[in-house]
Amino acid sequence: MTSTSISTPLSETRPGAEWWRTAVIYQIYPRSFSDASGDGIGDLPGITSRLDHLASLGVDAVWLSPFFTSPQKDAGYDVADYRDVDPLFGTLADFDDMLEAAHARGIRVIVDLVPNHSSDQHVWFQAALAAAPGSPERARYMFRDGKGEHGELPPNNWESVFGGPAWTRVEDGQWYLHIFDASQPDFDWSNDEVKEEFRGVLRFWLDRGVDGFRVDVAHGLVKAEGLPDYTPPVDGDSMGGEEPVPYWGQEGVHDIWRDWHRVLAEYDGDRALCAEAWLPTVDETALWVRSDEMHQAFNFPYAMSEWDAAELSEVIRESLRAFPAVGAPATWVLSNHDVVRHATRLAMTGHPQGHGVGPKTPGKPDPVAGVRRARAATALMLALPGSAYIYQGEELGLPEAMDLPDDVREDPTWFRTNGERYGRDGCRVPLPWTAADAAFGFSPTGESWLPQPADWTAYAADTLEGDPESTLWLYRSLLATRRSHDLGTGTLEWLEGYGDDVIAVRNGDVTVITNLGTAPVALPKATLLVASTAFEGTELPADTTVWLATD
Ligand code: NOJ
Repeated sequence: MTSTSISTPLSETRPGAEWWRTAVIYQIYPRSFSDASGDGIGDLPGITSRLDHLASLGVDAVWLSPFFTSPQKDAGYDVADYRDVDPLFGTLADFDDMLEAAHARGIRVIVDLVPNHSSDQHVWFQAALAAAPGSPERARYMFRDGKGEHGELPPNNWESVFGGPAWTRVEDGQWYLHIFDASQPDFDWSNDEVKEEFRGVLRFWLDRGVDGFRVDVAHGLVKAEGLPDYTPPVDGDSMGGEEPVPYWGQEGVHDIWRDWHRVLAEYDGDRALCAEAWLPTVDETALWVRSDEMHQAFNFPYAMSEWDAAELSEVIRESLRAFPAVGAPATWVLSNHDVVRHATRLAMTGHPQGHGVGPKTPGKPDPVAGVRRARAATALMLALPGSAYIYQGEELGLPEAMDLPDDVREDPTWFRTNGERYGRDGCRVPLPWTAADAAFGFSPTGESWLPQPADWTAYAADTLEGDPESTLWLYRSLLATRRSHDLGTGTLEWLEGYGDDVIAVRNGDVTVITNLGTAPVALPKATLLVASTAFEGTELPADTTVWLATD
């Protein structure tokens, strides 16, 4: 067993130096990581069997997307039982085994909590459907009478993030709100029963030993009084613009996070809450990580930046101002299960979050150029102080699977927009582990819930293992160097004089230079620590990042 160098016991509390301030956190999307059972869907025993891959990569923690009981209408983000494992993924005992095996390797484990909505198969929602309008059962969700003479029109004009109306009518004529799919009814967070239930869910997983939670739709939950109509500034863009959005970022949501913060503080070991809050600016995002709220928030303005030196520098500067100003670490992320993989995205323009790309998307990027840019972007990201997120498969240089046939798609976005938006399946294709095996070793039977592109032999972990210039070796080297030079705790100094297409910074004793332009850039004389792509000579080629030892 390879072991990472965690220097403090997992249970130790270290105010000001908590692990999550500097951690590199690897996102596991369980259904696509590794399938031990052979049914074509990844599972918890599959994760346990691959933990050495993560230990040798050198990550500090993993975040697992939902594996709870669920009809899988939104790949598990529709939870029917928050306190159990779906049989697709294994059992609670499999979870405990995985947690123990991760902790034995010094890897912390964060699970994904989905409090904005449940599945329509949750006992509470089933009870609400069976109960009458105005009943306590209905009061846990957002049931309303409709508009129009006979209540035949939805209560307001809100659109679901996945397309189509955000309201569905039930048999007795009332409507319920679902900001996402119709199978994902929104809870009413003004209801004390809902609040108490989630405190219990937090404690259930904290008692099992998890190190924290990634909290889904952490800017949702509370809706504006009176549920006023709202039309997004750009059709189909769920994030909003300058106008307040009546279902995102309402003041009352912060009280929930203060409450949850107190629950986590009852436990040892610096447990963490990480906000998934798609907000347009870093300053707004920082409101989620004030000292009595969450601990981290995904930096989506960073993730959504184009491959442009001015835009990226600006968001890095803003992040290093706004997050520390409230006592939180800056975070960095380039890919996850909701966005086009950055090995593809950074070589394209115009990619609204969640819409996806597919066979008919114009301007297919060159995969070689894409992965080169992605490696440079990751090398820049991992040099930045704070905490960084890696999405499974990016260490293999995986591109988005753009050629998935229509009939294998599962993302509700695809169905709710009648195929107008491809959605997110292309970043969720099961990982290739071994080039020579069926399903590239993802499952023992060759089953795979989404088909893997035939050319993924080139990205299989065992192919890359034999190539020191591969993306896998690069990630290992970046993570080891980040750790040995304490880049996570560092501060950034901006270096001038390299031109408009270059980002040049110093973090402690490491100088980091990224060339986002097309012309080569002269490098200072210094020892090379890491290059995102190997090159000859003293000039930094396009789409390349170097880490240099600074005297
Ligand atoms: C955000 C999750 O990341 C996404 O995958 C999911 O579809 C929505 N929230 C709804 O839960």
